[in-house]
Amino acid sequence: MAEIYFEDNEEDIEVQDGELLHQPCEDQGVPFSCTKGTCGTCKIVVNEGMENLTGYTDNEKNVLGEMKKKRLACQCSIKSGKISIEY
Ligand code: FES
Repeated sequence: MAEIYFEDNEEDIEVQDGELLHQPCEDQGVPFSCTKGTCGTCKIVVNEGMENLTGYTDNEKNVLGEMKKKRLACQCSIKSGKISIEY
């Protein structure tokens, strides 16, 4: 099992290893639009555990520019372990 902590809601959610962030993030109120990595609506900030996410997609690199702690929730999966995010 993997774990996502939503700092905005102070909610800890358990998910399967390898699960896409899309559904758990949508359930916690992260807004989505295109779901294809092109609009930037689903931008989240990963404050802990970035190493537990899959690598940046080309769309994320194009949309986010200066990436730092940012990801697009429609484009990444949690490999295992814990992440802590805000949006
Ligand atoms: S919903 Fe458009 S980039 Fe994720």
